[in-house]
Amino acid sequence: ETIYVGADIGGTAIKVGVCSAAGDLLQTYEGPTEASHGADRIVDNIVKYVRHIVEATGHSWEQVGGVGIGIAGFLDIPNGIVKFSNNLNIRNVPLKQMLEDQLGVTVKVNNDANVAALGEAWAGAGRGVPNCVCYTLGTGVGGGVIIGGRIYEGYNGMAGELGHMSIVPDLEAIQCTCGMTGCLETVSSATGIIRMAKDAVARGDKTSLSLVPNLMAKEVIDAAKEGDEVAARIVNRAAYYLGRSMAATAVTLNPQRFIVGGGVAKAGDFLFDQIREVFAKYTQPEAKEGVEIVAATLGNNAGVVGAAGLILRS
Ligand code: BGC
Ligand code: NA
Ligand code: ZN
Repeated sequence: ETIYVGADIGGTAIKVGVCSAAGDLLQTYEGPTEASHGADRIVDNIVKYVRHIVEATGHSWEQVGGVGIGIAGFLDIPNGIVKFSNNLNIRNVPLKQMLEDQLGVTVKVNNDANVAALGEAWAGAGRGVPNCVCYTLGTGVGGGVIIGGRIYEGYNGMAGELGHMSIVPDLEAIQCTCGMTGCLETVSSATGIIRMAKDAVARGDKTSLSLVPNLMAKEVIDAAKEGDEVAARIVNRAAYYLGRSMAATAVTLNPQRFIVGGGVAKAGDFLFDQIREVFAKYTQPEAKEGVEIVAATLGNNAGVVGAAGLILRS
């Protein structure tokens, strides 16, 4: 039987998975990305983990229908070239070519969040919904636009780069790793939440966060839930700009469903209620009718499932 391999290339870890032709995730495996060692090392690691999982699951290379890759950054999708990845810090890497040379099977490359959106649309919170828009809230803010059940890539492969919607007013805007200022990602990612919390502590704001040694987004969210006002303002700001960006997207694409995943989304209804409130306030009434904002359901597996789906569903 034919199998389909998906790989999700993150800033710290590479996750690979094997899917059956029916789209069932049979097994996953994870190893370090080692992005700081450069592009060649990242490629070597992908090759190593893909080989490992194919062999560990007892398959032959003749059975591999292809390898799909989801990777953060701005891509030339048809040619599988990473033009610039702001979070892996690599430029002009012909990923598809390099992987096909080493693996000897068809490789398709797409943006990590596009691929996660495809996974959710296919087997998660977007199942049966032809038009949806996904956000992944992690180190960065990723976006994926699904139209008619397929990834919408846009003219140049840059569609769905929702984290770089420049939405924070100049007076409050800070520089993004992409080279712009005021990007959604600077406030609504885990990184943005941590930065705002550290700034508040450095300013001397009265908050329980000043006692936390190694501040992560989860600590900020937990403190907000427990009534810490400084933390609550930070989470509210992250939610506010997400809601505003969804309002803008709603009148652009009119998706039926917004799906929100990634580590920060684990905050649950505490975060979702605030996003929904902002969305309701700023979206034109007819344009928001019936539109839902829901949590992703595939968790960490959306990327590998969607990446395998690049091969299986095309
Ligand atoms: C990158 C996107 C990516 C997102 C989530 C952003 O910083 O620019 O390409 O999809 O992070 O990883
Ligand atoms: Na995207
Ligand atoms: Zn940006």
